[in-house]
Amino acid sequence: MSSNQIESVLKENRTFAPPQKFIDNSVLSQADFDALNARAEEDHAGFWGDLARAEIDWQQDFEQALDDSNAPFFKWFVGGKLNVSHNCIDRHLADKADKLAFIWENDAGDEVRRITFQEFHDEVCRFANGLKALGVGKGDRVVIYMPMVPEAVYAMQACARIGAIHSVVFGGFSSEALRDRINDAEAKLLITADGNLRGGKEVPLKSMTDKALDAGCPSIEKSVVLLHGGLDVSMNPDRDISWADVVAGQATECEPEWVDPEHPLFILYTSGSTGKPKGVQHSSGGYLLGAIMTNKWVFDLHADDVYWCTADVGWITGHTYICYGPTAVGVTQIMFEGVPTYPDAGRFWRMVQDHNVTIFYTAPTAIRALMKAGDDIPKDYDLSSLRLLGTVGEPINPEAWMWYRETIGKNNCPIVDTWWQTETGSIMISPLPGQTTLKPGSCTRPLPGIAATIYDEEGNEVTQPNVGGYLVVTKPWPSMLRTVWGDDQRFRDTYFFKFGDRVYIAGDSAQRDDDHYFWILGRIDDVVNVSGHRLGTMEVESALVAHKAVAEAAVVGFPHEVKGEAIMAFVVLKTGYADEEGLDQELRKHVTEQLGALARPEEVRIAEGLPKTRSGKIMRRLLKSIAKGEDITQDTSTLENPAILDQLRG
Ligand code: PRX
Repeated sequence: MSSNQIESVLKENRTFAPPQKFIDNSVLSQADFDALNARAEEDHAGFWGDLARAEIDWQQDFEQALDDSNAPFFKWFVGGKLNVSHNCIDRHLADKADKLAFIWENDAGDEVRRITFQEFHDEVCRFANGLKALGVGKGDRVVIYMPMVPEAVYAMQACARIGAIHSVVFGGFSSEALRDRINDAEAKLLITADGNLRGGKEVPLKSMTDKALDAGCPSIEKSVVLLHGGLDVSMNPDRDISWADVVAGQATECEPEWVDPEHPLFILYTSGSTGKPKGVQHSSGGYLLGAIMTNKWVFDLHADDVYWCTADVGWITGHTYICYGPTAVGVTQIMFEGVPTYPDAGRFWRMVQDHNVTIFYTAPTAIRALMKAGDDIPKDYDLSSLRLLGTVGEPINPEAWMWYRETIGKNNCPIVDTWWQTETGSIMISPLPGQTTLKPGSCTRPLPGIAATIYDEEGNEVTQPNVGGYLVVTKPWPSMLRTVWGDDQRFRDTYFFKFGDRVYIAGDSAQRDDDHYFWILGRIDDVVNVSGHRLGTMEVESALVAHKAVAEAAVVGFPHEVKGEAIMAFVVLKTGYADEEGLDQELRKHVTEQLGALARPEEVRIAEGLPKTRSGKIMRRLLKSIAKGEDITQDTSTLENPAILDQLRG
């Protein structure tokens, strides 16, 4: 977020109480939430234990809600046994077998699939049996690299059913990024598709997969290919098997594998300060509880809701608010293969109208892009089915918030601005739509049982209003990550580096206002949030220096109207290479090949050197100012080569 935006967020003093109709129809009342908060305050572990017993089907009851004897390696619901897929599917069959679990639209908008919970069950079981026949079992890792099709969710749920650990890699990531993730997880199986259309453009998943596997993924035994997009692909008979062949002749029943609540459900890679993405490891029992409770509390779900979370299953939002949460609570949801602006910027609104969507959850970057397209477009559609709007992924600027409220919600829908992270597993700080008075740009207050607060450098709680500090969580919560896959030390070093083993450090800075509302100020580490997606600047720098012409690179984020933040790269060439016409474009393309289009720098500036202190440290703050086009007010006296600044200004 730019400093202008931060300023406008912090000066924001408009408030919006929930509409009376919404209050009257809320599933839970203020008194219910008061009771939940009081119980959490009185007995934190017992509070979560009660909910776990009430909301999850256990094959074997647990003995202890929380084992915190080995912080920060917390264990929840010790002694229990459950299966996540059973909880998301089987338990609905008694009374919701014919209810729609999914309404799926393809990219072009000329195909709609309607899938009941019974069909969902049958497809997941057939695929789970197929996985078993391929030799996949409990604890094996399975990488899923698929388009937004129902089969992606079937694959995730099938893994959960047999106790295999999935790791979904977003289809927009490059083959190099895919290979790194497969190898870090030592995955046995890969599930992909021939490819698909996204925004009318072909995404050749199978050929990207081939490139990754051919470059060396020794742990992979087989690759399952869903023939979906009609792309012409070559199948390697020793390795590739079609989805249709995997499920052929398989039964529509598959006994779930009952697992310990701590059994890893999935690994999801995310960026941090260092070059290598971290495999965030989530549990089965605690994660499921977080997904269920937040879906109920934040989205006020009713039996007849039509819920739509527009995220991709390659991100945590698609895990918790498509694959697991909504299915576990048995709501009908929309799943969408395409993008918000294809075939035009009315696509989302047309789908809301056609499917009578009641709850709509998206990212600020999408809202900004659609806002830019103009007010006339949403006016062409009947959006009166909407009753609740949500956002996630990055701070939302008040302008975009107001547009969302007025133009999409017709001043009738509460907006839940939900703060959370890949690591937290589920929403942590968010308005309760029937209770909370909203302020545009604030995620308001922590949910029941979530001990989020703000610490200063010394680890004292910041109690004064409008003073920034570290956003921390001082008590474990069920859906928190359990470790970094294969690297307990990195888990500790990343999230518990400053205030002991019981204080989780989110990596964001935040402050509270007079009403104790939280305002997220941004990351404290070298992470850039591009269109709501986290990218480590080191990752992009490593990709750049892998190019033959590049000697050194520094990457910073700068404010972008639609993406929130974008990337600017400063590059120094190796001797013998000149800043030739088109080199900056080649470098942008190179980063796309290495990491994926998300990481492509908006701009590459080539100079003879980078601003460094005399001890050789790159002065990133200076680069940030340059990227923002600001005047340089910082002290440059320690700079070794001040003349370089003029070149970098471009
Ligand atoms: O900086 C915060 C920002 O996104 C980061 C988490 O990114 P990721 O793990 O990719 O998960 C995104 C989806 C949950 C956070 O550290 N962020 C997320 N939600 C918000 C936000 N910043 C401000 N307001 C939010 N509502």
